Amino acid sequence: DTSGPLAGLRILVSAGGTREPIDPVRFIGNRSSGRQGVAVAAAAAARGAKVVLLSANIDDSVLAEVADNPAVRVVPVGTAAELESAAHAGSAGAEVVIMAAAVSDYRVAGVSEEKIRKEDSDGPPTLTLLENPDILAGLVRDRRPGQVLVGFAAETAADEVELMERGRRKLARKGVDLLAVNSVGWSEGFESSDNTLHIIEASGALVERISGTKQQTADALLDAVAAVLR
Ligand code: C5P
Repeated sequence: DTSGPLAGLRILVSAGGTREPIDPVRFIGNRSSGRQGVAVAAAAAARGAKVVLLSANIDDSVLAEVADNPAVRVVPVGTAAELESAAHAGSAGAEVVIMAAAVSDYRVAGVSEEKIRKEDSDGPPTLTLLENPDILAGLVRDRRPGQVLVGFAAETAADEVELMERGRRKLARKGVDLLAVNSVGWSEGFESSDNTLHIIEASGALVERISGTKQQTADALLDAVAAVLR
């Protein structure tokens, strides 16, 4: 639908997971495949938006969904610091920002220029971590008038009540317009083609609980974005 509320809008989407280097061959990462964020980018383009996709370490097989789409420009990023500068650059020209990327909360202090070798060290090394900035919180601080900001939250929770409580607290802390809460676990959420999202609006109310393919959950999220824009 290229005549709907997202038509002609510029939408910035981040997806995938950042990697924080330890040395030239090792990193600290996470299990985000980027599938959900890529599905959001594809669905936004299908609704006539112009999309910039900040792709953090997404496999080509996953990116294939948008690779030939002229409405989606893919900008590769590696670390949280790279994602942060790309996000600030991209956000300035976007009416909607959707941060689906799993951003590392920490980076390694004093990244080794050389591969850390077992034979050169006595015993296991100790990694010192530094806190990364909260990119989304920074975008909220710098938001342009009318800009809609959407966060994702991957949470482990004992039940739906706890999941919603965590989601509401996070939404308030981040100051976003919408938060898509994603229940994750050892075998849930990441790397799979299906997903369950609890979409919460700024008031704390549940807009929708949607279970389905990542395309279906992406569409539900964009419906919620369109409702905020109206
Ligand atoms: O606090 P938490 O990491 O669960 O928040 C998740 C949301 O915040 C996601 O939208 C993620 O992209 C964003 N985030 C961020 N910068 C960080 C950590 C998370 O933008 N350093």
